[in-house]
Amino acid sequence: MTFDSRLFRDVMGSFATGVTVVTSTSQKGEPLGITVNSFSSVSLEPPLVLFCLGYDGNHCREFQESESYAIHILADDQGDICSRFASPMDNRFNGIDHTKAGEESAPVIPGCAAVIECQQHQLIEAGDHLIFLCAVTNLRVDMEKKPLLYYRGGFPLLA
Ligand SMILES: Cc1cc2nc3c(=O)[nH]c(=O)nc-3n(C[C@H](O)[C@H](O)[C@H](O)COP(=O)(O)O)c2cc1C
Repeated sequence: MTFDSRLFRDVMGSFATGVTVVTSTSQKGEPLGITVNSFSSVSLEPPLVLFCLGYDGNHCREFQESESYAIHILADDQGDICSRFASPMDNRFNGIDHTKAGEESAPVIPGCAAVIECQQHQLIEAGDHLIFLCAVTNLRVDMEKKPLLYYRGGFPLLA
């Protein structure tokens, strides 16, 4: 490597993104959720999306074992949800309103700009992260909501 990891982070932080919270259900039936901005649309036919989780985190292993995910594109008034699902705490869902279509379905949090429900399609090892390539099963969007943005460690407002 001819550059340090700080430079790599600074360069990647210059790419403005939205913010998602990806949820799933553990083998014990508990709701799981993690803040993720490594989200991308991949294919339209068939509809595929991806997100990446670091192997070091607690959620990577549990997410590999589950099949269903809900990717929440956060709205600009959901900065608190972003912080909560990125922070170390035992039950991030404590006091967080959510619904589930079935036992093994991923929990869905209301009030988001959009939600993509999907199923694990392929896991791809990529350095210290695992890429979750997922097949889209359901979509919902609230066109009235503006998305939460993330840029260089902060949350700029969309004009
Ligand atoms: C805006 C933002 C985006 C993030 N994106 C990712 C990501 O794409 N992949 C990831 O593994 N962690 C990402 N994180 C870090 C995780 O949310 C955080 O470290 C995580 O909740 C650690 O949880 P765990 O150890 O419980 O898995 C992001 C954090 C923030 C604040």
